[in-house]
Amino acid sequence: MKVAKKITTVRKAVDSAKRRGQRVGFVPTMGYLHEGHLSLIRQARKYNDFVVVSIFVNPIQFGPREDYRRYPRDLRRDLKLCKEAGVDLVFAPSVEEMYPQPFLTYVEVKELDKHLCGASRPGHFRGVCTVVAKLFNIVMPDVAYFGQKDVQQARIIEQMVADLNFPIRIRIMPIVREPDGLAMSSRNVYLSEEERRKAPIIYQSLLKGKRELLAGRQVGRVLKELARDVEMAGGKVDYVELVRWEDMAPVRKLAPGERYVLAMAVWFGRARLIDNVVFRAGERG
Ligand code: PAF
Repeated sequence: MKVAKKITTVRKAVDSAKRRGQRVGFVPTMGYLHEGHLSLIRQARKYNDFVVVSIFVNPIQFGPREDYRRYPRDLRRDLKLCKEAGVDLVFAPSVEEMYPQPFLTYVEVKELDKHLCGASRPGHFRGVCTVVAKLFNIVMPDVAYFGQKDVQQARIIEQMVADLNFPIRIRIMPIVREPDGLAMSSRNVYLSEEERRKAPIIYQSLLKGKRELLAGRQVGRVLKELARDVEMAGGKVDYVELVRWEDMAPVRKLAPGERYVLAMAVWFGRARLIDNVVFRAGERG
């Protein structure tokens, strides 16, 4: 496995892979890898000849009061996991390599960032889209893999790829969960023992909400009840919302056949956790 810190090294390695006729799969990450990332890497390994993983904690997607500085990092462990998973190339650039000064160009996908995390974290998706567009231009993969846990990010990147004509297929892979249902996340390390015990309420209430929505209960009431359940368990709800997959806009009534996302962001202590369930109106609950 090769580890590249420089853009030119990545370009050369991918270029030779492509000249050998190899298909390139790409998994962008911020490191501190867990089973969720590894499931994306395994999928990339299965369907591609040359697998690239990027590890870069992207400063421009964090707000001024967010956790950029304390975001967990462990490059040695990440490299070991990548090697074991059969990755061909890891791109782990410095901030200076990605953002030489002056840096003045940003990518913004309109409308899809108005609600959910886009509303709670202004500028977050602009930072995500900018770094992902840069990574796509550097790696030039055939296929890129994203997790459904960051569902709004996945939808926004899908749109960016369509709007800006990136010749890249986007694959969105299912959420990987702990045995008690908590969605895997690098931020789970912020949880105290007690918070960790309570956090599975997020997924439990999402499942309950999905069941009730599919049974025809009123959306507003279901959302209120979910928020109450989570708060009773000690979480502080940032948002709980039902949105259409297509435009990520809140809805109060299901339309048959339409695809929806029931999504939550909840604080447990210092950890802001997000999770969601995706379903179609009319499917069996
Ligand atoms: O999902 C993440 O880890 C990040 O938002 C991404 C896509 C690697 C961009 O920094």
